[in-house]
Amino acid sequence: MCGIVGYTGTRQAYPVIIKGLKRLEYRGYDSAGVALQQKDDVTIYKKKGKVADLEESIGTSNVAGTTGIGHTRWATHGEPNDKNAHPHYSASGKIAMIHNGIIENYAQLKSELSKKGYTFKSDTDTEVLLNFIEEIKTNNECTLEEAIRIALKRVTGAYVILLIDNENPDTIIAARKGSPLVIGVGKGEHFLGSDASPMLEYTKEVVYVNDYELAIVKPDELILKNLGNEKITPYVQKLDLELAAIEKGGYDHFMLKEIFEQPTTIYDCLRGRLDATAGTITMAGIQQYAEQIINANRIVIIACGTSWHAGLVAEYIIEDLCRINVEVEYASEFRYRNPVINKGDVIIAISQSGETADTLVAIESAKEKGAIILGVVNVVGSSIARASHAGAYTHAGPEIGVASTKAFTAQLTVLMMIALKVGYMKGSLSNERYRRLLNELDAVPEKAAWVLNHHEHIKAIAEKYKDARDFLYLGRGYNFAIALEGALKLKEISYIHAEGYPAAEMKHGPIALVDEHLPVVFVATKDVYHEKVVSNMQEIKARKGKLLAVITEGDEISKSICDDVMIVPETDEVIAPLINVIPLQLLSYYIGVAKDCNVDMPRNLAKSVTVE
Ligand code: F6R
Repeated sequence: MCGIVGYTGTRQAYPVIIKGLKRLEYRGYDSAGVALQQKDDVTIYKKKGKVADLEESIGTSNVAGTTGIGHTRWATHGEPNDKNAHPHYSASGKIAMIHNGIIENYAQLKSELSKKGYTFKSDTDTEVLLNFIEEIKTNNECTLEEAIRIALKRVTGAYVILLIDNENPDTIIAARKGSPLVIGVGKGEHFLGSDASPMLEYTKEVVYVNDYELAIVKPDELILKNLGNEKITPYVQKLDLELAAIEKGGYDHFMLKEIFEQPTTIYDCLRGRLDATAGTITMAGIQQYAEQIINANRIVIIACGTSWHAGLVAEYIIEDLCRINVEVEYASEFRYRNPVINKGDVIIAISQSGETADTLVAIESAKEKGAIILGVVNVVGSSIARASHAGAYTHAGPEIGVASTKAFTAQLTVLMMIALKVGYMKGSLSNERYRRLLNELDAVPEKAAWVLNHHEHIKAIAEKYKDARDFLYLGRGYNFAIALEGALKLKEISYIHAEGYPAAEMKHGPIALVDEHLPVVFVATKDVYHEKVVSNMQEIKARKGKLLAVITEGDEISKSICDDVMIVPETDEVIAPLINVIPLQLLSYYIGVAKDCNVDMPRNLAKSVTVE
């Protein structure tokens, strides 16, 4: 959350920063701002709202300068308004700073500074840290770099900070702990970003800055140091990402593009790993820890939000195919409740961004207690990927729509491959079932494309139900988590209240909500529970609820009971969640669009939750 951009070089910094901020807007869009070095001054422009609002407010003001920093905010401390927007000036007006993260002990620092006579223009923790840095610089008569180092030793929390001042021309000083920072290395220029998207068209050479590192960035020089002032050699990596991957490519929204990319992203995820003809699954990271996984007493899956739903599907599949006990944990709960972790426990951390603070901290503490950490992560080189012992990337490409779609199906694809591989190696999965499931998984890209081809039908359903006040989503077994995911997507995108429940649990409470106004969406594809789910649908119909369902092609009985159906091709029940979620993603998208919601940037949300 919060996007940060920096540039120093020979180009004009402002257009590079604005373009970069627009690419990072998925990380927060409460306010935006830039600071530019101009002659002996630092000039700040900032505004509540989106980057476009900032541009409009700047109008024809002077934005000349070849060194600058920019920020797009997801508010933590202080409401979204102009004064809380970043960058902030230090008390002297000589230093400007942007920040992504939370300074946990800011109240204590603020009271120390207040006693010394400091006053604050904003309600942010950022301004406190900046003044704390300036206070040290003045008191110790040291350089800005030295002052930052001293200040950061006193700070608890997570941060990426970027500073420019009027004493260090053409220089950006950056530091990180717990929030992401990438530096792009160009010829006579450097780019800084929360991810690599702001620098894609300029350079493919990047350095991922690690926690407790400080970067002194000039056009021709990049110096990395630790907080002990020792130099570190920057490790320059080559980016494997094209510009087209972060553009809308003719779609109205990133979310729609990403939903439609799924046949390709699932295929990319399977490619080079699953060979249905040979009957093999090649996953080096999993192979490396295969023995430990097979012999594990339990597997603990840690994730948040949509990734947690992928974990829930995986729980059912791993227990079924591998006969290993699986627990699925919300990262935020797991990390604070002193969980029992035994040496040799296997933890699977699932994360699209690889930067979710709760997940990251949870795996770090489990790692200290001797657990093996396997990461199922989308963003290559991200913090969770680096903190894991091994794992598998999901290869879904950049996901820019704030609501997760293609990353979810890629996570399911990876988790299904892990379950199949481990189950087969362990011998808990028969050769015949293994082979059948490999073939079914192999066929998913084609079946996903089939579902997407029927999008107009789902759009018509969305029009019909867009004015409902509440929705209930129900599913059993493998489809229970898909019901939860369907409900989450609808909430996020359309702001309609929606709840997901296990279908049979409905009669223990939620059935009281059912009347002729309530749409109830069943994930009711053919599986071992199917007859029972049909009975649950009858129970809703008897109470005049509006019945919608995702059903298997050819299921005439379900079709005859329902008001509306979304049809998917037949597949094995283990693989079905991967296909069944797609109509629900489309339903949420079209309802969101019909209600004129900003589906790519839903209110209050941000894509990468780097605060706890
Ligand atoms: C929902 C959504 C969020 C994320 C959650 C975890 O559409 O995107 O619920 O799934 O914030 O994020 P990652 O997977 O990046 O750890």
